[in-house]
Amino acid sequence: MFTVFATTAAGVEDLAAEEAQEILDRKARIDGPGRIALNINRIEDAVRLLYLARLVKRVMLKLTEADLDGTQKDLKKIYNAVYSSDFTSFLTSSDSFAVRSKRVGAHDYTSIDVAHVVGQAVIDRILKEKNYKQRVNLDEPDVIFRSYVLHDRFYFALDLTGDTSLERRGYRTEVIHPAPLSPILAASMLRVVGWDGTKNLLDPMCGLGTICIEAACMARNIPAAYLRKKTLQVVRRPPFPELDPESIFNELDSKIKHYEKPLITGSDIKEKYVESAKRHAKIIMVGDAINFKARRLEDYVEDQQGSFELIVSNPPFGLRVGHPQRVEVVYRALFRVARHLLTSNGKLCIITPHVKLVKSLSEKENLPITHERQVKYGNLNVKVFICEK
Ligand SMILES: C[S@@+](CC[C@H](N)C(=O)[O-])C[C@H]1O[C@@H](n2cnc3c(N)ncnc32)[C@H](O)[C@@H]1O
Repeated sequence: MFTVFATTAAGVEDLAAEEAQEILDRKARIDGPGRIALNINRIEDAVRLLYLARLVKRVMLKLTEADLDGTQKDLKKIYNAVYSSDFTSFLTSSDSFAVRSKRVGAHDYTSIDVAHVVGQAVIDRILKEKNYKQRVNLDEPDVIFRSYVLHDRFYFALDLTGDTSLERRGYRTEVIHPAPLSPILAASMLRVVGWDGTKNLLDPMCGLGTICIEAACMARNIPAAYLRKKTLQVVRRPPFPELDPESIFNELDSKIKHYEKPLITGSDIKEKYVESAKRHAKIIMVGDAINFKARRLEDYVEDQQGSFELIVSNPPFGLRVGHPQRVEVVYRALFRVARHLLTSNGKLCIITPHVKLVKSLSEKENLPITHERQVKYGNLNVKVFICEK
């Protein structure tokens, strides 16, 4: 049995656990802020999760964990926990390795100290057990271990993902937008709002198209890591020689439903973003699944009433440029448009730091809030709201 340890965005752990459970048909649990865990019998299941999960940043095999108290004594505890854990079968004498270390909370040591102690424990144990010195290569290691010191807990894990988070899907190649949404948050919004691929969906402020593209990939069963196959650590260096990730990918790719024609519309006031969004959609094979156009949000009031069941959007936060009145104008328009465009029981789902404004507009437009959750957007605390007609 293996314990899979996966990271996600803080605030959507329950959704990530639900998704993992659906993918693997096994109970997944929230392991702490931004983390989920589940037990699997077959390593192939970790590969499935890694390839399919839209709400996961990184998938690892947990090797050991320990309690910490924040003092220097922790370093000895960490050394002992790593030294006595079951990692040696993942290394051969020709492999190099690296330890990637992350620390959150107040401790009498740094993440560099932790990486050093973990690396030393790996080297010492291999020397004792196999009688050679394992090579370290921090730039292009064959094997990547991850160590997490998260407040009062230490985790040591074998990385299956690699240095680039699964959040980077590989379709957003044009970095011309100041605030593109994380695909994990986009997929979380779609999950929480009940997107099942059959409803009529609009993002009227689509920027580079992330929400629409994630929605189309969900509708067509396109794996989240479809464009990332070659970069995944599990492919570069399978943890077991008999594991063949590519055959698992092929099996999952055969379930892609290219013929699905979801009803997705994305628009933005800026034509150059819309043109980029179109190209991004093509890269991930959903160019024909989304109706992208340049359009002002305000102009949707001219359309037929009740033409969308879902509006999912990431309106401008207006925090960096600081035009509070301009932001208010856009949010007012968004709620007015939602009131006009949504079918009865239709839902507006938005991600925003403007909690008071959303609460007052939901009352004004009679679109009551039926769901509200705090999520981390980079370092910002923002909320995802669902307002229902
Ligand atoms: C936070 S960004 C959306 C980013 C997008 N989710 C992505 O992943 O690229 C907000 C977008 O709203 C657009 N916008 C602002 N005011 C608008 C308006 N009145 N009508 C349509 N789009 C507008 C901006 O051009 C910007 O691209």
